[in-house]
Amino acid sequence: MTTATGHTLLKNIKNSFFGGQGEYKLVTGEVTERAYLDSAASCLMMKPAFEASTQFLEHYSNTHSDTHNSARISNSMYSWAHHKVLDFLGADAKEYTCIFLGSGATAGINRVAQILSQSRPDKPGVLISLMEHHSNDLPHRQYHEFAEHIGCEGEGVELGSVCMEDLDKAFKRHENKIDYLAVTAASNVTGIINPVYDIAKMAHENDALVVIDASQILAHSPITVNSPDGDPAKSLDAIVFSGHKVYAPGSPGALVIRRSLLEKSEPVELGGGMVKTVFKTEYSVSDQFPDREEAGTPNIFGSINLGMALDVMMRIGMDVIAEHEKEMLSLLFAGLKDIDGVTIYGNNCLKAYARTATISFNLADVDHEMLALILNDHFNLAVRNECFCAHPYVREMILLQLWEIDPDLDEVEIEAKKGMVRASFGLNNDIKDVRRLIDAIATIAANKPFYTDQYEMDDQSNYAHKSVKSDWHTYFSPEDTLAALLNTQHQR
Ligand SMILES: Cc1ncc(COP(=O)(O)O)c(C=O)c1O
Repeated sequence: MTTATGHTLLKNIKNSFFGGQGEYKLVTGEVTERAYLDSAASCLMMKPAFEASTQFLEHYSNTHSDTHNSARISNSMYSWAHHKVLDFLGADAKEYTCIFLGSGATAGINRVAQILSQSRPDKPGVLISLMEHHSNDLPHRQYHEFAEHIGCEGEGVELGSVCMEDLDKAFKRHENKIDYLAVTAASNVTGIINPVYDIAKMAHENDALVVIDASQILAHSPITVNSPDGDPAKSLDAIVFSGHKVYAPGSPGALVIRRSLLEKSEPVELGGGMVKTVFKTEYSVSDQFPDREEAGTPNIFGSINLGMALDVMMRIGMDVIAEHEKEMLSLLFAGLKDIDGVTIYGNNCLKAYARTATISFNLADVDHEMLALILNDHFNLAVRNECFCAHPYVREMILLQLWEIDPDLDEVEIEAKKGMVRASFGLNNDIKDVRRLIDAIATIAANKPFYTDQYEMDDQSNYAHKSVKSDWHTYFSPEDTLAALLNTQHQR
């Protein structure tokens, strides 16, 4: 149930992000407020979470120390961060453990691929959905004898969520040979949400597991290890995500996994903090999780900052956040679909295929890179372009469209042309930012030559404005910033 407090917090948090109200100069010379529409790549830092974490720094210590007061505080806070992740995902600490590792989801995905391939050697194959980011694809291929990709419903620009029928057929075709299915809870390209609990049930019926990449859903829509309907067959086995995609840049990635799966696996990273005893000739590893999987001094500050950001999101309520995204998404679709030449990728029926507030699109006759530059240079809208580390998915959506324009395109030309512009929204945005994007695209669509004639390809095959050099390098200097800070401290 949504509460008034959640809605009030949601309203207040909008202006509580570092860079949220940042200003940059346009090519016209005018300075305006930038709207950050690139949360799918990395979210902005949430100020209350960061500021609470910096207060913890007064008590910072290495978590491998344990008797002095700061060490006790640090150890307890580091453990609090692990438990916050478990709480956020509704995971029982007796059944699941949380491991912090790397600087994003990639490290956790590589580790889970190693763990599961090691602990289930009789299952040589893995299924991977077509929608995956390369990070939730290549590691699974690396650690298994064979990997097969599962397509999505529909075809071309109209692709929907993972095709359950194809998945079922693949499980049957490789009877008892599949270790797990790796699938994203929401696409980093289209924002389309997959039915992870039904997928988990199908996997379990086929004696396979599910590895869920939650990187693109955690900050946007509720996800828990157990299905909301309580069916134990639908529980998720392993979930990975990046802390920098939940408003905590600089935090680690997290892997939440059933303890029973970890117990059969040997740690691969060795060092301090994960051993019981070490002699010159032998050693024994700890049987405690997460310690056994977190060799060396961990990213203590980053983990606590991540726990703080999750705590804020829990206070707002993930249902309130999802509702906010839905509102932005509906407006976005309504505004963009009427603009001549706009293609929004993925099946556009939001009732059939729910999405987070992330969309990828193209405008006819304007290269995706040029469109992203125009949005930055003329409208102060920060978006991303190209293929978002999801080449197979992007290629599949764009191929028929490219062939429709030019049936003679060969593979090399298709590779060079494929790409989209992605706009992704979060807690730092509201419908004003959505309206700004719609107005910008409508203005560009109505005045294409005016904008495109201002750009040319440089010698690196990148587009650049013909006459105005970007002043991005004037905004931040580490030396000047430090000098100013040191000077202020000196005067105190
Ligand atoms: C769905 C998805 N999975 C995995 C990753 C990889 O995350 P990281 O680069 O933080 O390791 C990303 C990054 O964009 C992503 O969007």
